[in-house]
Amino acid sequence: MSKKIFIKTFGCQMNVYDSARMQAALKMQGYDETNTPDNADIILLNTCHIREKAADKLYSEVGRLNAIKQKRAEDGKSTLIIVAGCVVQAEGSELLSRMHGVDIAVGPQNYHLLPELVAKYDRKKGRILVADFPADSKFDYLPKHDAKGPTAFVAIQEGCDKFCSYCVVPYTRGCEYSRSVREIMDEARHLVETGAKEIMLLGQNVNCWHGEGLNGGEADFGDLVRAVASIDGLERLRYTTSYPSKMNDSLIRTHGEIDNLMPYVHLPVQAGSNAVLKAMNRQYTAEEYLDIVRRFREVRPDIAISSDFIVGFPGETDEDFEATMRLVEQVGYASSFSFKYSARPGTPASLMKNQVPESVKSERLTRLQELLLSQQKAFNVGTVGKQLPVLLAEKGRKKGQLLGYTPYLQPTHVDVDESLFGQIVNVKITGATASSLTGELK
Ligand code: 5AD
Ligand code: SF4
Repeated sequence: MSKKIFIKTFGCQMNVYDSARMQAALKMQGYDETNTPDNADIILLNTCHIREKAADKLYSEVGRLNAIKQKRAEDGKSTLIIVAGCVVQAEGSELLSRMHGVDIAVGPQNYHLLPELVAKYDRKKGRILVADFPADSKFDYLPKHDAKGPTAFVAIQEGCDKFCSYCVVPYTRGCEYSRSVREIMDEARHLVETGAKEIMLLGQNVNCWHGEGLNGGEADFGDLVRAVASIDGLERLRYTTSYPSKMNDSLIRTHGEIDNLMPYVHLPVQAGSNAVLKAMNRQYTAEEYLDIVRRFREVRPDIAISSDFIVGFPGETDEDFEATMRLVEQVGYASSFSFKYSARPGTPASLMKNQVPESVKSERLTRLQELLLSQQKAFNVGTVGKQLPVLLAEKGRKKGQLLGYTPYLQPTHVDVDESLFGQIVNVKITGATASSLTGELK
């Protein structure tokens, strides 16, 4: 019987990508993926530290998995529990002392060591923690990974040097690092050859990517987008996340020039008040942000714009919050993520004196989300009656239905033969709610 690995991923798309790379590395050692921890020889949790709630989830999860580990031990089976991801980087040895069932803890820059750590693991010699920032790039050692469905992720850049005052990322993922064009192109081509129709370029700040272009000169993210978009057989290209003030004309122009670059941009603003943006150490003003939005719409009027928001940042007054509401009204978002500010250990904002009470944060979040949700609904309703290409990328809610995505990343339920999974089909949009569309095959 083959050995099995169960992987559970928390947090962002970078973690989803990392999980795929770790899975490919452990597959070389004979571990096949399973969708239940009950029959797994390895249980791998890929963790997120961005907000308090995310980290808390891990502790309850490990408790549950420990019970499974013990039950398996009674049946004479051993189970290795591995914790990876940003919580490991942030909490290090404290994590091992708080979570007794964990055998191996490995930080985001050390995933290439996993096969060796697993092969050599001997519980009697002690549990293992690897959380340093090595000089070598893990990408030089991880094996190729095949596309697992019609959409595939490629990390092009990792880490962050921006040091927004609320954020743990610069500490958990390390400083900004750009992968080479050649590496990115090889990986993207391989994913298209193994079935990907759509590629999402990933990074904490993709538009800070820079490197040597294919013909030797300096290249920026706009050049990289052009290169990846030209891969034969690639039907859709997306990227996330971008840093607003690092948007340059070269990149904005690509949205008017490249057909397979999707009309969608995630542009996290966080707040609409210049005082709050300054305290957050975001390097733009609300006016500059609005100008970037305007430039995108100039080259691609139908572009869907999405964003992240934090309410209740230390010192945020009622007027500051109203400025966020006004900015949202001016932009008109197609989708969004919004959060209550969460004080994270080790970040400058967590030490600020003027923390906002929880009840005020909750009130503000409710008001903001009502506005954002009504905008999302308006955007969705605006596509009813249109004919749009939909990439059928997931199972449907019921038999005879698949879930796909429009160019604007709207989830769309379509009644179709399931054999069309993975195809891009023309769909007439017949209905819309705030969260999804329904459509008919044309
Ligand atoms: N509290 C609340 N939200 C946060 N984010 C990052 N750090 C925090 C924090 N300490 C949000 C930001 C970011 C998204 C990924 O998570 O909006 O863009
Ligand atoms: Fe965090 Fe700011 Fe870097 Fe984004 S840009 S990862 S919010 S520090």
